[in-house]
Amino acid sequence: MIKNTYEKYVLPKLLDTCCSTKPINYQREKVVPNASGTVLEIGIGSGLNIPFYNLSKINKIYGLDPSTQLCKKAIKKAEEMSINIDFLFEGAEEIKLKSNSIDTVVITYTLCSIPNPMDALKEIKRVMRPDANILFCEHGIAPDIKVSKWQNRINPIWGKLFGGCNINRDIPSIISNSGFKVHNLNQMYLPSTPKIVGYNYWGSASI
Ligand SMILES: C[S@@+](CC[C@H](N)C(=O)[O-])C[C@H]1O[C@@H](n2cnc3c(N)ncnc32)[C@H](O)[C@@H]1O
Repeated sequence: MIKNTYEKYVLPKLLDTCCSTKPINYQREKVVPNASGTVLEIGIGSGLNIPFYNLSKINKIYGLDPSTQLCKKAIKKAEEMSINIDFLFEGAEEIKLKSNSIDTVVITYTLCSIPNPMDALKEIKRVMRPDANILFCEHGIAPDIKVSKWQNRINPIWGKLFGGCNINRDIPSIISNSGFKVHNLNQMYLPSTPKIVGYNYWGSASI
């Protein structure tokens, strides 16, 4: 009962607020405008990437997320901005799109929350055209042992409070071990952000 109320009313607001800080929006600006063609956003959440798309390069946007509460916010945002997005209310482990149909996959701050990200990436690979790209920006395991120790300690509690989010995933390894080539990998601690959640990895990946 308390868990359901928390997940329905508190968590969507919490995630929306935590994911819309100035440093995170600055990250979105580095990644999202590069999307082109037919775009699939994995874990569109409350739609925080929507204002960053360069619509002149895009034919179509699909927004996938299993959370109807978060999608409601994204739908509202898309309507306010008059942007046509087809929403898929499901997890990335099974995507109801044709194989070889997507040019760009956008994933921001979502690989942390997918229970088995390698299963999802396998399915993402199926829907990607052979020359398609993944554009990603994620927080993950920090390179400093002092920080990563705390990430590992806190991770189980963190996940319970933040919708299954893991703060200690090795994002580049997860992507490359799922059969992708990682390009232009950048990494740093975001300014004004606690180090345990602030180590960001961003770049692109191809099949
Ligand atoms: C921290 S939020 C980030 C939302 C958004 N990507 C952003 O950049 O603000 C994590 C998102 O992952 C979504 N998510 C959780 N499990 C998922 C799954 N199996 N497949 C796709 N998305 C999932 C959640 O519903 C949530 O919207």
